[in-house]
Amino acid sequence: MTTIPVGGEGFAAYEVVVGRGLLKEAGARVAALKPTRAFIVSDETVAAIHGETVRAALEGAGLKTGIVTVPAGEASKSFEQLEAVLDRLLAEGLDRKSMVVALGGGVVGDLAGLAAALFMRGVDFVQVPTTLLAQVDSSVGGKTAIDTPRGKNLIGAFHQPRLVLADIEALATLPVRQVRSGWAEVLKHGLICDAAFFDWLGGEGKAGAEGDPDALERAVIRSVEIKSQIVGEDEKEAGRRALLNLGHTFGHALEAELGFGDALTHGEAVALGCAMAFRFSARQGLCSAADAQKAEAGIRAAGLPTRLAEVDQAFSAEALIGRMAGDKKAEGGRLTLILARAIGEVFTDKAVDAEAVRAFLIEEGAA
Ligand code: NAD
Ligand code: GLY
Repeated sequence: MTTIPVGGEGFAAYEVVVGRGLLKEAGARVAALKPTRAFIVSDETVAAIHGETVRAALEGAGLKTGIVTVPAGEASKSFEQLEAVLDRLLAEGLDRKSMVVALGGGVVGDLAGLAAALFMRGVDFVQVPTTLLAQVDSSVGGKTAIDTPRGKNLIGAFHQPRLVLADIEALATLPVRQVRSGWAEVLKHGLICDAAFFDWLGGEGKAGAEGDPDALERAVIRSVEIKSQIVGEDEKEAGRRALLNLGHTFGHALEAELGFGDALTHGEAVALGCAMAFRFSARQGLCSAADAQKAEAGIRAAGLPTRLAEVDQAFSAEALIGRMAGDKKAEGGRLTLILARAIGEVFTDKAVDAEAVRAFLIEEGAA
């Protein structure tokens, strides 16, 4: 069991506990926070697999509980499901000292976290992430959001959890595509600021991409350490936190063009986006071609996409640029991208020449 503190200016410190058997221990750990109630928000898939374990654990610790579920998938990050969750919390008579327990992947964490931020002007919540992506990224740092037809994550709030319980055993039921998808965010952390970690992920640690629990545990711990440090320095993304968006501006544009369907998971889009960010950096003379190739090889070795040609759809450079300019990370109409000087050394460029990006996208195979 490893406990990683997360804390910084302007928000109360909390712990991310990484280990095995944490779903069964959730009762005692949540009860220690002394809520009047602990109500689970989950999706239908996760609730069917792990809901009863967590419900029994909470009840076993003397907590009055219950569960509300939403359909599995990104479409549940919607006003409709947010309203349904909030309405259920009201119908159940939860009060301002009640706690929301988000049991699931990033979709549930983002939705339940936003519901907790809004309910009675804000109640506490605990993240119990059950996907690798949620354990290494979305459960830590307090970003909560839903999507609208105008874009992803555009309606949200910063609302830090009181506790995060990352149970490695919960990942045993995760489909391998979802494990790899989370592995993309793990690789991203190495690419951002830890070249030795990136090397480990492609060597001794690579079994994690196939679900090996020991490698997964080490990868989750190092990822949470990295994310904790960055979020502690810059909760509201005024500066350094933006580095965590490596691969996301390209990735979001691709996801949006694909209608957020099954063609690319979020993690796969981030993997492809990271490879593109490194190739674009090399093209601009910012990092070496060798580092761009090494980044791409490490991503590909984990079974993740690195080239547009691997996606079964033709992309228009113009449409992708439009998506990138419309991304909320763009300021004043210029393109903002996280670019690389080397593996483990990335930076924010807020004035990227859109023409250079257009030429790059055409080289990459966009029309
Ligand atoms: P997800 O929550 O949709 O989970 C993926 C699938 O796995 C779902 O079908 C789910 O039901 C299933 N699942 C979850 N846990 C399982 C388990 N243990 N066993 C079997 N199946 C399981 O997707 P995700 O990849 O976890 O999260 C993606 C979302 O996270 C996106 O909406 C993205 O925007 C968001 N995100 C948020 C942040 C943040 O900082 N808040 C960071 C990264 C991503
Ligand atoms: N996933 C990016 C962030 O949390 O800032």
